Amino acid sequence: MSEIAKIELGGKTYELPVVEGTEQEKGIDIGKFRGATGGYITLDSGFKNTGSCQSAITYLDGENGILRYRGYPIEQLADKASFLEVSFLLIYGELPTQAELASFQESITNHTLVHEDMKQFFEAYPAKAHPMGIMASMVCSLSTFYPESLDPNRTPEAKDLTIQRLIAKLPTLAAWSYKNAMRHPLMYPKNDLDYGANFLYMMFGMPTGDYEPDPVVVSALNKLLILHADHEQNCSTSTVRIVGSSHANLYASISAGISALWGPLHGGANQAVIEMLETIHNDGGDLDKWVAKAKDKEDPFRLMGFGHRVYKNFDPRATIIKKACDEVLEKLGVDDPLLDIAKKLEQVALEDEYFKARNLYPNVDFYSGIIYKAIGIPTEMFTVMFAIGRLPGWIAQWKEMIENGEPIGRPRQIYTGANERDYVDVANR
Ligand code: CMC
Repeated sequence: MSEIAKIELGGKTYELPVVEGTEQEKGIDIGKFRGATGGYITLDSGFKNTGSCQSAITYLDGENGILRYRGYPIEQLADKASFLEVSFLLIYGELPTQAELASFQESITNHTLVHEDMKQFFEAYPAKAHPMGIMASMVCSLSTFYPESLDPNRTPEAKDLTIQRLIAKLPTLAAWSYKNAMRHPLMYPKNDLDYGANFLYMMFGMPTGDYEPDPVVVSALNKLLILHADHEQNCSTSTVRIVGSSHANLYASISAGISALWGPLHGGANQAVIEMLETIHNDGGDLDKWVAKAKDKEDPFRLMGFGHRVYKNFDPRATIIKKACDEVLEKLGVDDPLLDIAKKLEQVALEDEYFKARNLYPNVDFYSGIIYKAIGIPTEMFTVMFAIGRLPGWIAQWKEMIENGEPIGRPRQIYTGANERDYVDVANR
């Protein structure tokens, strides 16, 4: 017999069904609770203990540091797969056959160009415009060029085309936002290169030169994109699902996800880590001082790249990326004082009672920024890199939500404002 939860309120007992996932995760279904109790809701600011959906995409066990996409361990995918293969897996549920992968790759390659009229938008942005602002606007603008994407419930073929267009065009938009900031000519995609290499070519190539992406850098980029590809119901993914739940189109939903990712407590942390390391370095490198600041509740400073809402032991992505980071720096011969500070900071924090007691470990963003810096990605582009990686996950979650026919997302609240009062004319206030 399936489990039942019981809640007692005002002398009455309410029975609530328990839902169990394929990895025996359990949740109490409170969907009918408010109606049954005549008005009680559950309250959980920040959704620390609230499931918003049932999902078959990503399994994450924060206590044991486990992350799997569609059942496949992240360690195996990061080691062996290509980013487009993982994208297919997340979006369509299974690893692609050779033929499926070839056709997916071909479609992505055929849609890398961005409409020429969109170039004018880039020209209108100031050189100092943050690329995440450009990305969110540009992705939403794609909907104006592809009006057939406005109805997310059109045919499966139309949905696939919208999805594949977006995966194809995001790196082009990202590289162009960088070129725009540099006031350099925009580079058109080179379709004989793979996904990551083409992005690097559009970022660092010049019409006057022969830029060849370094295979070490291409391989590191592939790994980084895979590690970021999905992370179940985080802030940006929940945003994508909730925007999409109103049946807003895919481009609008992903644009909202990009905005949610931008913040330093989420994807913006990779940029914030490097800025923090630079500040510490320029301040003389006194780590004890900065660790003390991070522990001081009166001081808003936090160690960026430390802590995670769900990983309370270790972040498996951080373990993989730390190794990749060492390899890339060694192969590229990069000697970066910020890396020394990062390593020492990690050591100091890991041995400190404050961090130990709160299970605060380096997360994926602690190391990703260091690799991005080593491979020449400018700091302001770090979160854009995260967005390129997270895109297939956002798409998979949006598609699942639409195909499961989920209702519009609309939380409740406990009102704490003023009770009813009469309007007072401005002259009498
Ligand atoms: N430095 C110092 N103290 C911290 C930190 C930190 N980075 N993170 C958490 N704490 C403390 C916090 O003050 C609190 O202490 P106390 O119990 O004494 O009040 C305790 O640890 C629990 O923190 P919380 O803020 O309640 O935890 P949360 O789950 O709400 O926040 C977090 C998670 C990731 C937002 C937070 O750890 C943080 O701000 N980290 C720095 C930003 C960062 O690296 N974000 C990237 C996350 S990984 C990429 C992604 O998937 O988004």
